[in-house]
Amino acid sequence: MEAVKAENLTISYSGKPALSDVTFTLEEGKTLLLLGPNGAGKTTLLKTIACFHREYTGKLEVFGREPCNARELIGYVPQSHALNERVPLTALEVVAMGGIYRRGFVHFKIPPEVIDRARKALNFVGLGSVENKLFRELSGGQKQRVLLARALMSDPKLLLLDEPLSALDPSARAEVANVLDKIKRMKSVTMIITTHDINPLLEIGDLVMLINRRLIAFGRPEAVLTDEVVKSVYGPMARVIPMGGKIYCITGDFHVHRGGHL
Ligand SMILES: Nc1ncnc2c1ncn2[C@@H]1O[C@H](COP(=O)(O)OP(=O)(O)O)[C@@H](O)[C@H]1O
Ligand SMILES: [Mg+2]
Repeated sequence: MEAVKAENLTISYSGKPALSDVTFTLEEGKTLLLLGPNGAGKTTLLKTIACFHREYTGKLEVFGREPCNARELIGYVPQSHALNERVPLTALEVVAMGGIYRRGFVHFKIPPEVIDRARKALNFVGLGSVENKLFRELSGGQKQRVLLARALMSDPKLLLLDEPLSALDPSARAEVANVLDKIKRMKSVTMIITTHDINPLLEIGDLVMLINRRLIAFGRPEAVLTDEVVKSVYGPMARVIPMGGKIYCITGDFHVHRGGHL
């Protein structure tokens, strides 16, 4: 089944196109890395798939439905999370909110069944030991893992992650990338991940899409990440260097390397 299908999709803000004429199909279960320079339209595409933004022409389907009819199938982790850190919620409570929000009822007490599932989700991302710590006191990598656990609470079939590695130091990036890898291996979920630093994520990307206000390239990482394609988006200084069976990609503001053969 196709998780996402776009045909001649053009997304606009107040009549001004931000991303034009995009056609692609993402099969269920695949992980797509969405790349492009700042302002390319990455967040715009994710938001439109998630039904947070509705101004588009062309066709867009999520599991064969219009995005706004597929909301319960979608988990979305925004780039800068909207969580108010002044509210002293524990890690466990933040995760449990993922289960409550979906049910759409006002609550004063979190049901034990939801707490149970939240605990399982926290254990899944390796944070069982900090469940009673305040969210705001966690490290950047831990916060991002808590937000992944929260997104998993609704058991989404499509998980949309907007720059989950941005603003993290290299070791925290590796920590979050490992959790994303675990989600890919153990949950039957389709993922779209936008990223600047593709380096820690290339191993889990089945497909790569490069956009710059339009679709530049879409396909297997080896096919998309070529010198020619990368230069066309990031300028003549960008390059892809094959090195010992890996790809090392220099684009000025981020670099890439990839295991596996070319
Ligand atoms: N709410 C908005 N209103 C008007 N224009 C917007 C809005 N959000 C994004 N844009 C424009 O759409 C384009 C793509 O932005 P965005 O999707 O955020 O890019 P990216 O996530 O790749 O950095 C940019 O030119 C940006 O200015
Ligand atoms: Mg963005």
